[in-house]
Amino acid sequence: MFLKLCAISLPIFQPVLSATYTLSRSWSGEAFYNDFEWQTFDDPTHGRVNYVDQDTAKAQNLSWAGDGLFVMRADASKVVDPSARGRDSVRIHSKDLYGDGVLVVDVSHMPVGCAAWPAVWTCTPGSWPTGGEVDIIEGIYGIRSGYSNNLFSLHTDPGCMMPQSPPGQNRTDRGSGVALQPDCRGNVGCGVKDDSGKSFGRDFNQNGGGVFVMRRSMTRGFSMWFWPHNSGHLPSDVAGGSQIIMESLWSQPIANFQPDNCDFAKYFDKHEIIINLTFGGDWAGRDELWQASGCPGDLKWTINDFVDKNPGEFFEAFWEIRAMRWYDEVPAGGKRCARRAN
Ligand SMILES: *[C@@H]1O[C@H](CO)[C@@H](O)[C@H](O)[C@H]1NC(C)=O
Ligand SMILES: *[C@@H]1O[C@H](CO)[C@@H](O)[C@H](O)[C@H]1NC(C)=O
Ligand SMILES: *[C@@H]1O[C@H](CO)[C@@H](O)[C@H](O)[C@H]1NC(C)=O
Repeated sequence: MFLKLCAISLPIFQPVLSATYTLSRSWSGEAFYNDFEWQTFDDPTHGRVNYVDQDTAKAQNLSWAGDGLFVMRADASKVVDPSARGRDSVRIHSKDLYGDGVLVVDVSHMPVGCAAWPAVWTCTPGSWPTGGEVDIIEGIYGIRSGYSNNLFSLHTDPGCMMPQSPPGQNRTDRGSGVALQPDCRGNVGCGVKDDSGKSFGRDFNQNGGGVFVMRRSMTRGFSMWFWPHNSGHLPSDVAGGSQIIMESLWSQPIANFQPDNCDFAKYFDKHEIIINLTFGGDWAGRDELWQASGCPGDLKWTINDFVDKNPGEFFEAFWEIRAMRWYDEVPAGGKRCARRAN
């Protein structure tokens, strides 16, 4: 059944800086099975992973939906044959593409453990990095300090820059996080690291998880927020899945990618939404990171042997997602009707 709701005279203050958004898509539990595809190709980042299809994932309980939750995980029961592609895991991407708007990702558990490299991100369906990539949740291992902070980043073709504030100056123009390298090009991209460990890894899980928000605007750029469920600062419109959400009610973003030195319309096209979970590979498998992590232990495991031979180490390698929502921007000064599945 469909309800037709009309948003009545939205307060229009700071029309440029604090837009208003209306709910257009919402996913929880089973809805992921319909609107996302399970991808099975070789990991483009060379992780020790074997991405399985939806039927296999359901049969092995690597994907599960119930009680309004959606769970996707790596296998934690089998030793992997060295000749196999890697540990069974899941990577999904949205069937539809999304332009300007707001993505809300409400997570109660994210994958952690030695070698793990989980991410929630959006990416061009075209030839990367043309068309851009936006990382909303990303990090490696999630086991302790140095291996546990969330990284918000953009990846583009050369020419999109996020200059840092001069040393000693207030850096809030890039958000409350720590701005890393300013050049958004290629593999490393321009990242902003959250100062708080609560948005990634074991600290995130032990704290009961939280809500990530990514706002995308070709004229204003990208901003990203995170609030733990229990923080008291989580805006009620975001938490409650309101039909209308308002940016002016939210705190300062952790990451703020502004348009001053990047023509967003040139570097970003419409994106698919992706959730993945790989092990090792181009970032998580870098030898100096692996060696310094404490994970190789007395047996001095290589990362690939560790992944293959220690299924019991992967019990915490799962996503538990409460909801994901997409909001469209309400044109400034406008009034608009939204349809909602009931
Ligand atoms: C997983 O996500 C990250 C997002 O930052 C991406 O760079 C990487 O290519 C993805 N890996 C796989 C295997 O999909
Ligand atoms: C499948 O996974 C879900 C979520 O973790 C869990 O609640 C359920 O008990 C599992 N089912 C089986 C048969 O193991
Ligand atoms: C930076 O500016 C913001 C907003 O004006 C302010 O809230 C914050 O306290 C300032 N931080 C420092 C370190 O000066």
